[in-house]
Amino acid sequence: MNTVVTSIIDGAPVPGARTVQSTNPARLDEVVGEVSFADAGTFVQAAESASKAQPSWAGVPAPMRGRAIAHIGRLIEDNTEALARLITTEIGKPYAEALGEVREIVDTCDFFLGEGRRLYGQTVPSEMTDKQLFTHRRPVGAVAVITAGNFPVAVPAWYIVPALVTGNTVVWKPAEYSGVIAAALHELFVRGGGLPDGVFNLVHADGAATFAGLQQSLDCGFLNKVGFTGSSAVGREIGALTGRHLQTACLELGGKNPLVVTPSADLDLAVEGALFSGFGTAGQRCTSLGTVLVHESVHDRFLAQFTAAVARAKVGDPTQDVLMGPLLDAKFADRFEEYLTWIQPHHVVHGPTGRISAENPRDGFVGDPSSGLFYHPIVVDGVRPDDRIFAEETFGPIVGVATYGAFSQALELANAPGYGLSSAIYTTDPKEAFAFAGSIGAGMVSINNSTSGAEAHLPFGGNGKSGNGSRQSGVWVLDQFTRWQAVNWDYSGRLQKAQMDIAELSPDTTFRL
Ligand code: UN1
Repeated sequence: MNTVVTSIIDGAPVPGARTVQSTNPARLDEVVGEVSFADAGTFVQAAESASKAQPSWAGVPAPMRGRAIAHIGRLIEDNTEALARLITTEIGKPYAEALGEVREIVDTCDFFLGEGRRLYGQTVPSEMTDKQLFTHRRPVGAVAVITAGNFPVAVPAWYIVPALVTGNTVVWKPAEYSGVIAAALHELFVRGGGLPDGVFNLVHADGAATFAGLQQSLDCGFLNKVGFTGSSAVGREIGALTGRHLQTACLELGGKNPLVVTPSADLDLAVEGALFSGFGTAGQRCTSLGTVLVHESVHDRFLAQFTAAVARAKVGDPTQDVLMGPLLDAKFADRFEEYLTWIQPHHVVHGPTGRISAENPRDGFVGDPSSGLFYHPIVVDGVRPDDRIFAEETFGPIVGVATYGAFSQALELANAPGYGLSSAIYTTDPKEAFAFAGSIGAGMVSINNSTSGAEAHLPFGGNGKSGNGSRQSGVWVLDQFTRWQAVNWDYSGRLQKAQMDIAELSPDTTFRL
């Protein structure tokens, strides 16, 4: 009997009309569980439940909410291996990376458990006597969190943990292909935090039902904030929808992250960084490397080393010690096949391409390629700015390489696709490092480090096609889930009018030494 997971609203399971099997992308004949999908009405029910539960959750003293986050973090840490194994099984993330992902939730809880005892506001002097001014952070209300499945637990936690500690309630809609993992994370949160019913609702739904549910919930006034991690195209729709309700969504969208290799770069280090950022998580991070921009004087050496490293990298069974496992789900495999059609005659591709099989083998493959969605990692050289492969996100194990001459050209190429999530430069010249950081449109810049692998307490987010400037993580995410309230308290016993009833000093403006 397979695990059947359902939506959970107000603490009770709510089965949907349609059940879909979730399979292991590394062993397609293994069913990980069955996920019962909700319709738009069920989503609205969850939003209403969150909306009703919010005032009493906000009434729990913030230090106690912080304690709940502390207990959630400890429970998740104690369940690290089981949760990481489930991540590897349901989305094919290599086990070492899955452990890192669970660590990222624990880091997030460690950071925010103390926020319950801070949530600092200010005391501000007034321009009048016998009057005090204060600022308070207030929760926004009920929050919908819609997340992708490439980081099926860490990225949701980036939203859910700060939302809860600041007194908001949550409706979480995880990716369709990571429903079993979502059920496990939800249970760890609810049990670990001792969360009252309605504070954290889980809804499994497809994109259409979710969007319709969002629309109706916003119309009914049940939701006050939407957090979304996913494609730029869906992000635009959500941004437009929330904008019509005078809300700003927290949007974490795609990336076409550049990595610049300058003539002074340590090439071994640059190759190592490009390998991890291009092919770790099979290139399916939003921070994954898009295009290497390499100076023409080091292009041939870099390319030879990089393609050799890619050829040597271990690909295969994600339960083993591999750099790269399968693609996340059939949907991603289909899209990846489409990206491969963007390769043009002027491109130079090193090694075999497409799905790995007995007929299209990969040297040193770990396990049996025919059992899962395994693809050859590929490096495409000779990429030009007007190529689709250069301009658009290509989620999956494909990295483009383009050359530049003048440093200003590297900057221009790095910004050209119009995304702005992550970026990297390999250089030993501080002038280049600072010039790059000052000119790149990305929210995140690595100097002599990979485009991926951001730490959980720095601002995470992008600009341009990568997002609307919202930032997650660290203290910066507090501005997503709280609003500043200005309080003034006049104890003079009379109406003192600002800007009018103020004490005037008399400066002697004509005085000269
Ligand atoms: C994502 O791909 O959506 O910086 C998040 C990184 C990870 C998070 C990636 N810590 O690569």
